[in-house]
Amino acid sequence: MPSLGLAEEEACLRVLRSGRLVQGPEGEAFEQAFALSVGSAFAIAVSSGTAALQLALMALSVGKGDEVVLPACTYIATANAVALSGAEVVLADVQSESLNLDPESLGRVMEPQTRVIMPVHQYGLAAPVQDLARKAPHAYLIEDAACAMGAGLDGCAVGRPHGLLACFSFHPRKVMTTGEGGMVTTDDVGLAQRVRALRQHGQGDGVTLEPGGNFRMSELAAALGRVQLERLPELLARRRQVAAWYFERMADWDWLQLPLDSDSGHIFQSFVVLLKDRDLSRDAVIEHMRAGHIECQAGVVPVHFHGPYRGVRRDALPNSEKVGRRGIFLPMHVELNEAQVERICDRLRHAVGA
Ligand SMILES: Cc1ncc(COP(=O)(O)O)c(C=O)c1O
Repeated sequence: MPSLGLAEEEACLRVLRSGRLVQGPEGEAFEQAFALSVGSAFAIAVSSGTAALQLALMALSVGKGDEVVLPACTYIATANAVALSGAEVVLADVQSESLNLDPESLGRVMEPQTRVIMPVHQYGLAAPVQDLARKAPHAYLIEDAACAMGAGLDGCAVGRPHGLLACFSFHPRKVMTTGEGGMVTTDDVGLAQRVRALRQHGQGDGVTLEPGGNFRMSELAAALGRVQLERLPELLARRRQVAAWYFERMADWDWLQLPLDSDSGHIFQSFVVLLKDRDLSRDAVIEHMRAGHIECQAGVVPVHFHGPYRGVRRDALPNSEKVGRRGIFLPMHVELNEAQVERICDRLRHAVGA
């Protein structure tokens, strides 16, 4: 549930009254503010997080004959962007606690034809990018930071590329939103120019340099993004508070695996818990929550459970499968108050008979 107020309304009205709906000052201002905020040299605003991933792969000329390694535990958009590039999807497992790409598993699937590794900063917690890069010295690193605006990584913000490029989503489920929208960040001037060109039909300086598409962000979306970016500290603080309420109440629940806490740099785009007891039916728990008008979702379906990816090369994936079978997304948004968190926790305890 996005948090939208008067400032967002006014920003959108400003654009409507200007009559300039595409390729104007809002987009440029949003890009500059975003780059400043994450500490990257360049930020390129695009039409979605998926578009950001596709453009990053295109800018590196990734395609047929290449392999891209990603965690099996991710939203399907990560794998789809790779498949659409023509490259092969290769899956590695996630760590059991952080639910982020496991360097050991990555090491087991690396091959000479691995062009790119694509760690996902899962649910708002930064992946161990430096350790991953050490396992893949000859591969490019694209960070799927769709869920991680505002998260910390080795003392920096996610998006100040530890790899070559980082890709964000501003879908309404994310920490900050533009409706649909995304951003690519990089410190590499050549890659920034190429992403910019590919976003706009392959054009640079009015000349078509190569085939590209239309992956532009609208001025309305950019104006929204500027306001949401200004409000980001407030939005993040609110999420951390909600997470703190959950942690407080669940501290001694030994039947539940909790996310890592705020000290880890987590921004809690989602609050995902795992039922430890195999005899408990995760789906029955979700049903019980919904019957009490508490909307919960099943944990991310691992990539290789989806039809088109059943046969892909992969490591053993027990932790990703555990999230798929035992994970529950609990409600997490900035409008939640302490009494509501209390009610969610009571209902969850009731659902498992604890
Ligand atoms: C990990 C991950 N990657 C990519 C995406 C795609 O972002 P978008 O929906 O903006 O295309 C999402 C969206 O939920 C995501 O969670």
